[in-house]
Amino acid sequence: MVSRLWNVLAQLEKRSKLERSGKVSISRKSMMLAITYETGLFFNILLKAMNAKRVLEIGTSTGYSALWLAEAVLDNKTTNEGKRLDSREALITIENDPIKIRRASKNFSDAGVIDKISIRDGPALENLLELSRKTSEVRDLFDFVFFDADKENLKQYFDLVLPILRVGGIIATDNVLHPKDYHSIMMSFVKYVRAKPNVRSVTIPIGHGEEITTKCF
Ligand SMILES: C[S@@+](CC[C@H](N)C(=O)[O-])C[C@H]1O[C@@H](n2cnc3c(N)ncnc32)[C@H](O)[C@@H]1O
Repeated sequence: MVSRLWNVLAQLEKRSKLERSGKVSISRKSMMLAITYETGLFFNILLKAMNAKRVLEIGTSTGYSALWLAEAVLDNKTTNEGKRLDSREALITIENDPIKIRRASKNFSDAGVIDKISIRDGPALENLLELSRKTSEVRDLFDFVFFDADKENLKQYFDLVLPILRVGGIIATDNVLHPKDYHSIMMSFVKYVRAKPNVRSVTIPIGHGEEITTKCF
């Protein structure tokens, strides 16, 4: 399964590079709009270092970032004896575009992890409201949450997610530095986050710029 996952990641990486090169014309709707290889690797290392076992992503697209996250979580759920702990819903990822959901499902299936990832279909806000209602018990808290969808609702997403993130957990937010069109909305988000008394937050200049926010209490 592991090599299948790396193979799919490599194929998606090639496609994403081609998309970014501008050498082929791809309609906006068909674009992956994926994180960079370095960002995927950075998250993968971070998740392994923090032994993350429960992860939430907003914005699946074709599943490139989800596969980087899933690889780490599934590794964290494997015991020293090679036994895999219950990994259903190890990763929940939210997407509202049915075409992207179909593409992601195929990629998860090709990677051998379709039964480990739960794709939630529909608007992020509705899904987060439902999740935050359900996730009241300590065992359900998330270790890591990745925001990579629309930017307009980021502050609402943040306020819904913070209570269901464990202390010491991390919220990563993409596109803090690129593209430039997002500059003003992202700066407003960063200011909002950093004003919260119970978080520490820093921008890492990797890929499109990641805001890494940890919950302190
Ligand atoms: C930048 S792409 C995600 C890329 C993906 N994280 C990756 O790196 O492979 C953003 C995705 O979020 C989805 N999206 C945008 N707004 C959304 C919303 N309000 N609810 C759910 N999904 C949304 C888009 O359809 C798109 O597929």
